[in-house]
Amino acid sequence: MKSAVVSTVVLLVILVAWPVSAGYKDSPGAEGYKGEEDEGDTRSWFPLDNLLSLSYYDKICPSFEKIVATKVREWTKTDPSLGPALLRLLFHDCGVTGCDASVLLDHEGSERRSPASKTLRGFELIEDIKSELEKSCPGLVSCADILTAASRDATYQLGGPYWSNAYGRRDSTNSYAGDVEKVPSGRRDITGLLETFQSYGLNILDLVVLSGAHTIGKANCGTIQSRLYNFNATGGSDPSIDPKFADYLRRKCRWASETVYLDVVTPIAFDNQYYINLRKNMGVLTTDSELVKDPRTAPLVAAFAEGPPQIFRQQFAVSMAKLVNVGVLTGEDRVGEIRKVCSKSNSRAY
Ligand code: HEM
Repeated sequence: MKSAVVSTVVLLVILVAWPVSAGYKDSPGAEGYKGEEDEGDTRSWFPLDNLLSLSYYDKICPSFEKIVATKVREWTKTDPSLGPALLRLLFHDCGVTGCDASVLLDHEGSERRSPASKTLRGFELIEDIKSELEKSCPGLVSCADILTAASRDATYQLGGPYWSNAYGRRDSTNSYAGDVEKVPSGRRDITGLLETFQSYGLNILDLVVLSGAHTIGKANCGTIQSRLYNFNATGGSDPSIDPKFADYLRRKCRWASETVYLDVVTPIAFDNQYYINLRKNMGVLTTDSELVKDPRTAPLVAAFAEGPPQIFRQQFAVSMAKLVNVGVLTGEDRVGEIRKVCSKSNSRAY
């Protein structure tokens, strides 16, 4: 009975994924990233439900994708931890007022200066790409599009799936630290997470599959220490963590400034191990553990854990292609701007 339910969910995932996943490509895996790829005629399959376009830079800045991919490859070769950092940075951009590069603005009271953004990284890499693009295509490429492309390329270079991005986003002129609370923290319950994702126009499947980004990257120990020591004044650890795993985390996390992998079993593989860990009560963040406890999300966790990794990877690409279209600034009124420097608005004094 249980496996019948799981198979049904797996089938559902395949069916949901299929129509929009034609722009999907599997990762280069061990062969490594090969730079620009031929999109072929898969482009016409992408759902154009807004005014972004797959061919936006083809004529006005044909070197756009190549410059982004090259810079991402150079920087992540020196510091591989920048790959996961970029993926998280994109989520924190799209999750606050949409994918408009508001997270990159660096001024007093901006999102970036909020304490909740303290551990975000990757800003210098985006700025470097921007300055390179300003040389060949001045005033044409938005920081929001750069962040979208760079995160996709970083994911692919890490062995994750590839998806086609539509471009034409404009950059916001404002950024407010108070808006940062729109991005879920590691301690929200599933109802709260679902409400947040619904506010982005994303659904429960998107929530579960995009949380699978935690198959790579790290958490700061300060983020999880309340789960490990004197949880809810009980003197012990969070009972939803396997006791042996809690011991392991306590050994790894003696200081708040240390870090721990979010998927401790295969930390650098973009695979479905994250879901397998969740079912063994080895979720690092509270929200990770919640996904397997809540009856609304647990069947999807089971489907991704039991199915071939390909199911997760394919659906991840589909859901990412949705995430990058959340709240974009574009359209006939052409609101927003193309920033000259990603950390500063052109139209503001600061
Ligand atoms: C579902 C709600 C989510 C919550 C509550 C959440 C929360 C967190 C937290 C608390 C951390 C650790 C930060 C730290 O300690 O410094 C983290 C790391 C990370 N998150 Fe999420 N996240 C969520 C969804 C996502 C999504 C949708 C993505 C991307 C698609 C993502 C990608 C990442 C990555 C890659 C890291 C590791 C970053 C690094 O190594 O630098 N997360 N997340």
